[in-house]
Amino acid sequence: MNIVIMGATSGIGLELARIYHAQGHSVAIAGRRIERLHRISNELGNCPFSQIDITQEDATFHLTTLIECLGGMDLYLHVSGIGKQNRCLDPQLELSTVETNALAFTRMITFAYHYFVQQGHGHIAAISSIAGTKGIGVAPSYSATKRFCNTYLEALTQLAHMQGHNIRFTDIRPGFVDTDMLSGEFHYPMMMKPESVANTIVKGISKGKRVLTIDWRFRLLVALWRLIPSSLWVKLKISSR
Ligand SMILES: NC(=O)c1ccc[n+]([C@@H]2O[C@H](COP(=O)([O-])OP(=O)(O)OC[C@H]3O[C@@H](n4cnc5c(N)ncnc54)[C@H](OP(=O)(O)O)[C@@H]3O)[C@@H](O)[C@H]2O)c1
Repeated sequence: MNIVIMGATSGIGLELARIYHAQGHSVAIAGRRIERLHRISNELGNCPFSQIDITQEDATFHLTTLIECLGGMDLYLHVSGIGKQNRCLDPQLELSTVETNALAFTRMITFAYHYFVQQGHGHIAAISSIAGTKGIGVAPSYSATKRFCNTYLEALTQLAHMQGHNIRFTDIRPGFVDTDMLSGEFHYPMMMKPESVANTIVKGISKGKRVLTIDWRFRLLVALWRLIPSSLWVKLKISSR
């Protein structure tokens, strides 16, 4: 299988690239940090790579070239995302999160959708988060944009079905994962290792799962959250220290 991983320079995306490469798939990787792309490509048998910033309009042009280098694409795996707590509601942080997790997400996912329509088949998998389940006070734009991803993927699944396209979708929703994104001053409970999360993702994608919440503890947590009415939810103090 030919797999493009957008956001493979660290964390979950890097571990996904390692697993797929070890399984014998043809992998192409992308992200902004060029020195990491060089190093990871080296590690993974000189796999094709491209420096892509998904917030830039030329991102899809560079992705097209990367797909050509790979010899085609069967799975587009969108991992790129940013997220920080924003308790003081810094508008710049809110806007850059929306730009990456919603606007740029839409740019790349619609590109992959059209590519697979043309090709006649394909699989789009994207990492959203359990944070999309509820509006989270300490991370407003993060939780809102992840909800956007959930809804967008659901909508495209319906659209592909309506139009008779053979495109599959997987919405990946991890709980807390020990990556650069969560490094810093806050402590997060039930932290998972990126290697084990990536393993679960690979298995879930191969089974064709539509929604994949990782792991069982976070599935339980999300199920409980969903039972809480909005009128009560907005009065809760949900934070990590
Ligand atoms: N860590 C968690 O607890 C957690 C939980 C749920 C969901 N997630 C989601 O999982 C995904 C991966 O995060 P991670 O935890 O593995 O953190 P990470 O190590 O910070 O990885 C983020 C990846 O996104 C890429 N990226 C960010 N902005 C980009 C841009 N403008 N253009 C292209 N690539 C960009 C980064 O590459 P460059 O910096 O090289 O561009 C990097 O490869 C994110 O979507 C995140 O929201 C994480």
